[in-house]
Order: sequence, then structure tokens, then C-alpha cells
Amino acid sequence: MRKIWRAAVEAVTPYEAGKPLEMLVAELGLAELVRLSSNENPLGASPRVIEAVRREAAHIHLYPDGGSGALRDALAHGLGISPEQIVVGNGADELITLIALAAFDPGDEVAMPHPSFEPYATGAQIAGARVVPSPLAGYETDLDDLRRRVTPRTKVVFLCSPHNPATTIIRRRALLAFLDALGDDPPLIVLDEAYRDFVDDPEYPDGVSLLARYPRLLVLRTFSKIAGLAGLRVGYAIGSLETIDRLNRVRAPYNVNRLGQVAALAALEDPEHGARTRALVLEERAYLAAGLERRAIAFAPSQANFMLVRVKDAAAARDRLLRGGILVRDGAAVGFPGHLRITVGTREINERVLKLLED
Ligand SMILES: Cc1ncc(COP(=O)(O)O)c(C=O)c1O
Repeated sequence: MRKIWRAAVEAVTPYEAGKPLEMLVAELGLAELVRLSSNENPLGASPRVIEAVRREAAHIHLYPDGGSGALRDALAHGLGISPEQIVVGNGADELITLIALAAFDPGDEVAMPHPSFEPYATGAQIAGARVVPSPLAGYETDLDDLRRRVTPRTKVVFLCSPHNPATTIIRRRALLAFLDALGDDPPLIVLDEAYRDFVDDPEYPDGVSLLARYPRLLVLRTFSKIAGLAGLRVGYAIGSLETIDRLNRVRAPYNVNRLGQVAALAALEDPEHGARTRALVLEERAYLAAGLERRAIAFAPSQANFMLVRVKDAAAARDRLLRGGILVRDGAAVGFPGHLRITVGTREINERVLKLLED
């Protein structure tokens, strides 16, 4: 028998994104279902972004700018770096795949906290690299443990701050000590800052400001969360000229579509929408935290737009919320059994969440 598929691919468990919202609503016979399982923006996208997408619709018969040039220029201007230090991807997800494609050979090691955002491990597995998991210390990334797991075979260390699903951040001092301890020929350190806009801890470091000092650092960001563009798939990586050049070599020529590019540009031109989103999430995160505390329900100290809440029977609690019209993520599906991962919603939704959890 001719063997078509690579063994590494046969071993991959496909990502379980859950059923489309519309299908769930129909199946459960609900009037509506609020999705708090994917950490989306409770305000949606900015009206100015939606208008820009509408205008751009007239041009969708034309290929997009293959290098997302205007978007990279605008990002670079805002960050005070060169556009050559940025590559835009079809979501940060694509960039994680590109890292695997460009860097991993079979037998390489890829270190990451465990659990963490699943695509880090999937990319490594597909490339035939070995995932080296570093258990979280409670809800915190254990940088000492991660450092001990770095060997000459380690190609990449994935860090996620705020962490998905644990919601915690890596503080500046700890990050710098970790980077310094790796010496002057370190692995590539991927710092995933997908949820950075929801942090209010003053000790949170800005990854981009560290690039000059740590050229093997690669920062990932996305328009999916703060800008509410999850459906258009736009993320970006910021790193050294060498790293960005290698990622560009393995990406598809037109990886980011026209609507995504103009939407992201319009989002950059409407920072007030991001500020409104941040203000809402921070206020509602505090409201949820206070409500959980009052009910003696434990949770991780969140710096993200979602909470990780400890419950006795997660499957039953998820089911109760679902029947109440609210979809949340069972922690077991993201490496945290006995927990629910719940996106911060609007006040009305959060009140319903607290009530349903109390029951
Ligand atoms: C930690 C983390 N990184 C990256 C992503 C992917 O973002 P994007 O929607 O840009 O692919 C997510 C999405 O949920 C995430 O949680």
C-alpha cells in the first residue's frame, strides 16, 4: 500500500473549535446563545471598521497586497520600528504554523508551558519536533522550570502572557531574568501577547521594547481580541530582520485577504474603540471577580478578557450555563479539568453568568 500521509500528521488530533453558533442554537431550541467560549470582543468591531470593509467589498475580485504593506507601515509607525520587522499573518494562528515550518526539523525540541494554547504543540508535532512541556505552577508560568528544560536541541520556547487558558502574566523582572539566563545563543523565544491590551498590572513588560536587547525574541499580536476582528483573521509578528525574513519565506504569497487588511488599518485609525473595549473588559472583569468572590467561587487572577473559574463539576456547570443561553469552555478541553473558561461579557451577560454559576 502506498503511504501518502506523514506519520506525524496521522498522530495529530484535529483542533476542536466547537460547533458553529447557529447550529447549537437550532439543536438546543434556544432563542439565542451568547458565546463566551472563544474570548471574542463583547462590543464587536468598530463601526468605522465595518464601513471600511463595506467599501473594500467592491475590490474583492483583485488580489490583496501580498506583503500587507500599508498595514505593516502603519503598525511600524505606531511601534517605532521598521516595517521589515513585521510579518502579518492570517491570524496569529498562521504565524505559529509559519514558525514551525521555518524552524523545526524532526527531533528538535520545542518547550512550552503545559497546558497552553494548543496550536503551539500542534505546529511542533506536525513538523516531527518534540514538545517539551513545562507544568504551570498553579496558574503561573514557571520560568525556572522552563529554563531547566532548554537544551542545545531546543529551537523555540513558547511563552504566553497573558496566558491562555490560565489568564496570568509574566512580569518584567522574571522575563528579563529568564532571557538573560539563556545566554547569547538562545532558542527563539516566542512571546504571545494576544491578550496584552487587557492587562492592567504595571509590571507587565512590552515585548516590542525588548527586541533591540534580545534579537531572538519574537512577539505575536492579533486584531482578533481588542479590535474585534476574529472573523477576518489578522495577526502579526514582530521580531528581528532575520526572523521576519525567514517567516516570509514560508508564508503563502497572499496570506492576508483584502478585507482583513483594510479592517486592521481602520482599527488602527480608531483607537477609541479599543479604549472602549479595554475599559469595558476591565470593569466587567472586576465585576465578575467580585461576584465570584462573594459566592466563594475560586478563580485565577485574570489579566485577560476571560476568567478561569474553578467549579465542582465542570461538565454539569457548562451544561447549566448552556441551557441558560450561555456557551462557555469546559476547562478539561484546554488542560484545566474542574474549571470553566469564561469570556468577560457585558454587564447583563455577566449577571446571568454569576446567577447560573450560583445555582
Ligand atoms: C494565546 C493566543 N494566541 C493566539 C491566538 C490566535 O489569535 P488569532 O485569532 O489572531 O489567530 C489566540 C486565540 O484565541 C490565543 O488565545
